[in-house]
Amino acid sequence: MKVQKILIVGSGAREHAICRKINESSLPKEIFCIASNMNPGIAELCSEIVVKNINDPGLIVEYAKQKDISLVIVGPENPLYAGVSDALWDAKIKVVGPKKNLAQIETSKAFTRELLAEYKIPGGPKYQTFNSMNGVSDFLNELGDAYVVKYDGLAGGKGVKVAGDHLHSHHEAVLYCQEILDKNGEFVIEEQFFGEEFSLMSFCDGRSLKHMPAIQDHKRAYENDTGPNTGGMGTYSDASHSLPFLIPKDIEEACSINKQTASALQNKFGEGYKGILYGGFMATENGVKLIEYNARFGDPEAMNALSILETDLIEVFNAITDGTLEKIDVRFQNKATVCKYGVPEGYPNAPVKGKKIDVSAVKESDRLFYASVDLVNNELIQAGSRAVAFVGIADSITEAEAIAEREISSVRGPLFHRADIGTDAVIQKRVKHMQRLR
Ligand code: AMP
Ligand code: GLY
Repeated sequence: MKVQKILIVGSGAREHAICRKINESSLPKEIFCIASNMNPGIAELCSEIVVKNINDPGLIVEYAKQKDISLVIVGPENPLYAGVSDALWDAKIKVVGPKKNLAQIETSKAFTRELLAEYKIPGGPKYQTFNSMNGVSDFLNELGDAYVVKYDGLAGGKGVKVAGDHLHSHHEAVLYCQEILDKNGEFVIEEQFFGEEFSLMSFCDGRSLKHMPAIQDHKRAYENDTGPNTGGMGTYSDASHSLPFLIPKDIEEACSINKQTASALQNKFGEGYKGILYGGFMATENGVKLIEYNARFGDPEAMNALSILETDLIEVFNAITDGTLEKIDVRFQNKATVCKYGVPEGYPNAPVKGKKIDVSAVKESDRLFYASVDLVNNELIQAGSRAVAFVGIADSITEAEAIAEREISSVRGPLFHRADIGTDAVIQKRVKHMQRLR
């Protein structure tokens, strides 16, 4: 069998998880990576890792041709926005990760809201899109105290401001809208939902979808969901592939919204979405609502899902690019997972950089994932964003949490993590919250 040469674009813990799973495949392969930092975990698994501009389509195509790559996996969203997938398909190289038009599902909030409305897909809020202040006050008055203002573009999770949380009056909302306009931006104002958030990611080959277990992320930096928003401090999933605060209908609705969205995209653009469709949902008293889409694996969600994926990941990726996903059975172990990130002191607003960390006390090193760290003179140096993540796997969330907590606490250096993620106390709080709402 011919050796498949596979290129990974990106170098966080998500891409480390993808590399590991590809490396575990029984199919003959050779792995390459175009990275933004010298991730030591990825470096160990690759024939070559090069630090280059991951958002430059021409550069990536040239590298892929030079190395005779036949499959590219795009990890983060920015290269999708830059048209990396389009350029690779044009050069007849297969890609997991949608083309630029289809990636608008993540890159434009207005596009997503309009797609849902146009195709009558349930789960959308009342919303309006704006490129001036005309009508802003009227729409805020219509929504009352429950509104969200979203900058219409990629902002690394910092473009969304929620009433009661970041915005405390219509006056503050108007100031934020004006701030966006002053930077030549556009924005969406939408109805605020109340409930519990969860992620449901689906592998998608354009027509067929295979769903992953539901996962809950924790966006706030500090315990009890306080502090600034981050890329995600940690995540958990349950052995049932649902979550303790969800009912079966919630999972069915989320899967159905992902499926309807994939067919709407196929219909709109005349070609299918090939990649990971990540629905960010909220379970509410009125069923499941769609908060946002991402056009890639979640980070940390990828570590939870891929750690329990039983099916060969290369087989899944080939089925995505070839449009044969329907023919394969995508299975996950019935295990619970808890992932916790260790992040630099001061993260996310003023992270310490350039400081050494030591992971030598971590017992199960194959469940430790490297993110924003560089290997310098054989020492691990923090590069400023989320540093390392550990995934505990067990029969229950409680046991998986204990493992993840023990292991991430054993990492030495100026970092911190959230000890509350995955604990019984936090999970019971979520369950009670949903019981009250229902
Ligand atoms: P997004 O980048 O669209 O996921 O928004 C970031 C965060 O803002 C989400 O994870 C939610 O916590 C919150 N959010 C966004 N839209 C809404 C909404 N319509 N109702 C309530 N919360 C929202
Ligand atoms: N965990 C949130 C994200 O990947 O966007």
